[in-house]
Amino acid sequence: AGTYRIAVIPGDGIGTEVMPEGLRVLDAVSRRFGIAFEYQHIEWASCDYYQKHGRMMPDDWKVQLAGCDAILFGAVGWPAKVPDHISLWGSLLKFRREFDQYINLRPARLFEGVSSPLAGRRAGDIDFWIVRENTEGEYSSVGGVMFEGTDREFVVQESIFTRRGSERVLKFAFDLAQRRARKKLTVATKSNGIAISMPWWDERAAEVAAGYPDVTWDKQHIDILCARFVLNPDRFDVVVATNLFGDILSDLGPACTGTIGLAPSANLNPDRAFPSLFEPVHGSAPDIAGKNIANPIAMIWSAAMMLDFLGQHQGKAREAHDAILAAIEATLREGPRTGDLGGKASTAEVGAAIAERVARA
Ligand code: NAD
Ligand code: IPM
Ligand code: MN
Repeated sequence: AGTYRIAVIPGDGIGTEVMPEGLRVLDAVSRRFGIAFEYQHIEWASCDYYQKHGRMMPDDWKVQLAGCDAILFGAVGWPAKVPDHISLWGSLLKFRREFDQYINLRPARLFEGVSSPLAGRRAGDIDFWIVRENTEGEYSSVGGVMFEGTDREFVVQESIFTRRGSERVLKFAFDLAQRRARKKLTVATKSNGIAISMPWWDERAAEVAAGYPDVTWDKQHIDILCARFVLNPDRFDVVVATNLFGDILSDLGPACTGTIGLAPSANLNPDRAFPSLFEPVHGSAPDIAGKNIANPIAMIWSAAMMLDFLGQHQGKAREAHDAILAAIEATLREGPRTGDLGGKASTAEVGAAIAERVARA
């Protein structure tokens, strides 16, 4: 096998603390499974870079990244230095769009050794995937403020749902559901209130569903869907949602599994025309940054998802992915644990424990 070229973007805050732990585990994988990585360490796409250069990234960012096989990303955002919409539209959201990473795949799983804030839920009770549309929808740049500063002032921001964009994310979700044991899919909607785009989205779902007679599917309005994440999380298998609804569900799901500190994500261009990007669901967490107490598991699991995607779900990369997951499971069961899981361990201690377990796998 050749060498995987990985662009490494730590970003801001705890992004810079969890990234070394992701790399530490990849080093262990490299030694244990003979998989070679070549890293391209990138210091732009951070708020510090913005403060020095007046922009988040150099002009040739796309050329610099286009040659890599994948991007490993920490977190961007430091609102005290740069407004969030500037730092995020100048980096992460640009990657998702320009590299057409139209799937954002985010698991919610309750592990042994982790307690859910939901009463009576045990390991295995929560185990589902959120498939979030990642390039369009409510995250649009079409609109503007008019008559600013006058009493006629107003703001408009359009949501854009393309037929192609909707069909491809729905197909991805139905395909995923079809490969799973329960073969169940829930489509998030809001066609009772958002009366133009959402009924149209429901129609796209019904059309795509016709090609998957073996998948049991339903649609649920986003409000009651949120309630059911809390009340009946065991009923979900795969959930597909537009960009904003998927964003909200993918913090709520992991919160139900104990902490957002272990939730990973894969921003995929499934066609492999552009690099895909792998990152924790969480952000830069300014409130705990600089203390070495952030949970690195979301970052480490994201690196495992990267391996699995790079290896096309087979061979050594698949074995390495499984070994990382097993090491995460063992660490959640036996410790050490960071503060969000009730422990006292540092970010580095947890990363080292997982790397050691991978090395022994
Ligand atoms: P956040 O996810 O950074 O933090 C939310 C809460 O969860 C905080 O209390 C934080 O301490 C805690 N937390 C997050 N990750 C943790 C971890 N690994 N271990 C333990 N606790 C953890 O969300 P926020 O506060 O809304 O955003 C902070 C900044 O991050 C903002 O600038 C925001 O725009 C940005 N952000 C970036 C991304 C990204 O890069 N993908 C994602 C979300 C937010
Ligand atoms: C996420 C984040 C981003 C999003 C923000 C930081 C723009 O919350 O990856 O979930 O909304 O997609
Ligand atoms: Mn989010």
